[in-house]
Amino acid sequence: MNLTLRIWRQKDAKSEGRMVEYKAANVSPDMSLLEMLDVVNEELIKKGESPIAFDHDCREGICGACGLVINGVAHGGFGGTTTCQIHMRKYKDGDTLTLEPWRAGPFPVIRDLTVDRNSFDRIIQSGGFVSVNAGGAPDGNALPVPKEKAESAMDAAACIGCGACAAACKNASAMLFVAAKVSHLANLPQGQAERYRRALRMISQHDREGFGNCTNQYECEAVCPKKISVKFIAQLNREYMRASLTGAARE
Ligand code: SF4
Ligand code: FES
Repeated sequence: MNLTLRIWRQKDAKSEGRMVEYKAANVSPDMSLLEMLDVVNEELIKKGESPIAFDHDCREGICGACGLVINGVAHGGFGGTTTCQIHMRKYKDGDTLTLEPWRAGPFPVIRDLTVDRNSFDRIIQSGGFVSVNAGGAPDGNALPVPKEKAESAMDAAACIGCGACAAACKNASAMLFVAAKVSHLANLPQGQAERYRRALRMISQHDREGFGNCTNQYECEAVCPKKISVKFIAQLNREYMRASLTGAARE
């Protein structure tokens, strides 16, 4: 396959960026999109040009490090798929691919297609610790968890913190991310001690980082590679309301 790539190049956070066009020749349909970029980078290095910077780690859809806006859609729009899990057979010979970094104020561009997602780390940190009894591993049945609660917690815990939800939202809201992180602990007995304090602190940090409010557009759910449901945003709102009424706000 032969493709035309339009790629966002930006030297650093302070420099102006621009779209640059490249030709990618003899692309194997079995390559992943990131492998295709590896090959393009090898060619650039051979020519003495600076390679295109992009984030990646596991390349297995589990770490959340990768993330590109592909043809205007975060993670490319293939449904439940991370950028690293897209294969070139999804495209046709002669296609043009436009690759951009996440576009959201709290994700400043570091270089080219890489953005700084430390804002997400700070939101996680603001959630604080989980109180559990230290010591030996407890017996598997010592703390029963109802099946539906366990499943809901696991669904929320599937969030890999990639940031696509915020990048896709017109308000740059990261509510789906916060909702997943708050809900997975709120649904388990182990998460109860700090439940409401955690919700308040994570939402406050989300707002301090400059992420916007949710206005129920559902773009987040549409692009989420882990198909985190917006029902968790509804749960987050309930957690926040209860927290505000129970005095956790004063802790
Ligand atoms: S909710 Fe989905 S899109 Fe948002 S950070 Fe988690 S995995 Fe990524
Ligand atoms: S590189 Fe880990 S999810 Fe894509």
